[in-house]
Amino acid sequence: MRQFVDESLLRRAHDRAVDFLRALPQRPVGARASRQDLLAALSVPLSDEGQDAVQVIDALSRGADGGITGSAGPRYFGFVIGGSLPVALAADWLTSAWDQNCGIFVTSPAVSVIEEISREWLLELFDLPRTASVGFVTGGQMANFTALAAARHAVLRSAGWNVEEEGLIGAPPVNVILGAEAHITIYSSLRMLGFGKRLQQVATDEQGRMRPAELRRVLASLSGPIIVCSQAGNVNTGSVDPMGEIAPIVHERGGWLHVDAAFGLWGRASREKRALLEGAELADSWGTDAHKWLNVPYDSGIVIVRDSAAHRASMTVTAEYLEQSAGKERDPFDWAPEFSRRGRAIPIYAALRHLGRRGVESLVDRLCARARQMAALLARHKSVRILNDVVLNQVLVRFADSDETTRAVIVNAQKEGTCWMAGTTWHGMAAMRISVSNWATSEEDIERSAAAILKGIR
Ligand SMILES: Cc1ncc(COP(=O)(O)O)c(C=O)c1O
Repeated sequence: MRQFVDESLLRRAHDRAVDFLRALPQRPVGARASRQDLLAALSVPLSDEGQDAVQVIDALSRGADGGITGSAGPRYFGFVIGGSLPVALAADWLTSAWDQNCGIFVTSPAVSVIEEISREWLLELFDLPRTASVGFVTGGQMANFTALAAARHAVLRSAGWNVEEEGLIGAPPVNVILGAEAHITIYSSLRMLGFGKRLQQVATDEQGRMRPAELRRVLASLSGPIIVCSQAGNVNTGSVDPMGEIAPIVHERGGWLHVDAAFGLWGRASREKRALLEGAELADSWGTDAHKWLNVPYDSGIVIVRDSAAHRASMTVTAEYLEQSAGKERDPFDWAPEFSRRGRAIPIYAALRHLGRRGVESLVDRLCARARQMAALLARHKSVRILNDVVLNQVLVRFADSDETTRAVIVNAQKEGTCWMAGTTWHGMAAMRISVSNWATSEEDIERSAAAILKGIR
């Protein structure tokens, strides 16, 4: 019989992982290998007899290395990508070793209970209705999808239509309204839910926030079920829609208000940032990520829904061959689109238990302070213009007021390797998009990165 626990193999993988993490703050942040390099290093014919496990792990870690970006490290500022808190990574290793299928209570009572507890902690931390339901999904995309599935259920139920039974053909038309700068995952969620592109956009202001007066004007001309998607944390600027003004406008019309708060919702854990997110508690559903600001390993998103019955009705299924708990215990698949999945609440539980309320607050405040530090250091240079109000962890930078120079500075910084960030187009202008999302980013990391970026202005 094969050895069940191959300790030397696991130790080998552990050592490779630790070597990688130790070197991470020093190595160039961007990838070094091209597709061709990676194919040359990793592609072998699929063998008949397989290969020794230690050799596989060695070949994998060696072969992939040049194509592993430093996105888990402290000077990666691309997109909105968090790293992994040590406690979350350790819990994630346990999660893999336990290898639980978290569909229903009976397949993993421990994960079901960990989800229950994490649900309570998250609602407390975000100060959202304590009776809301929470699902653990793969990321912001699926958090938005799940919330909007619950919204679709609820608004159609109010119009006398059971969408889970009858589908969308022949259903009362649903008015879906979103801000002009809604994240792309809102569009893909709506597409998967059968709404296509029959959507109405509401104009946004100079920071990308939905304009409440415009929303009121758009809603005035509509009849029938209404879903409005707002945003807390614009992917470019970090700006937050004025939720306190938007929520009453939507609710006056009997609409459902969803907030895409993939990273912004964490601001509610900070006393300093709380005012910015005031009114978000009035919404009907929220999507956020743990793999961004909470810094747990991928993939980890969170969906929260005020009307737990709508949430459950839109997700749950029943079958005679399952042993469901009928509400007695938590069956995780009642709250997420997936059936079998890993115990992704485990690293969330570990991170929250380790950090506590003050630890999460400090994580939020620290990353916001580092973003402000970056903006201030870059702004000292005469050709730099900071395009956004740095309200959270996002900084938008333009160089020499020129698309060409801005793009060149981005490429130069990416090649130089001290840090890495991507470009964007913001209100018709090329810009460098800096997102400070890693728990380990220090003031010194910001100083080094700002100096490296400025060196690339030619
Ligand atoms: C505002 C917003 N919504 C949704 C998403 C998508 O999240 P995920 O990549 O976790 O699916 C992002 C990602 O950056 C985001 O910034």
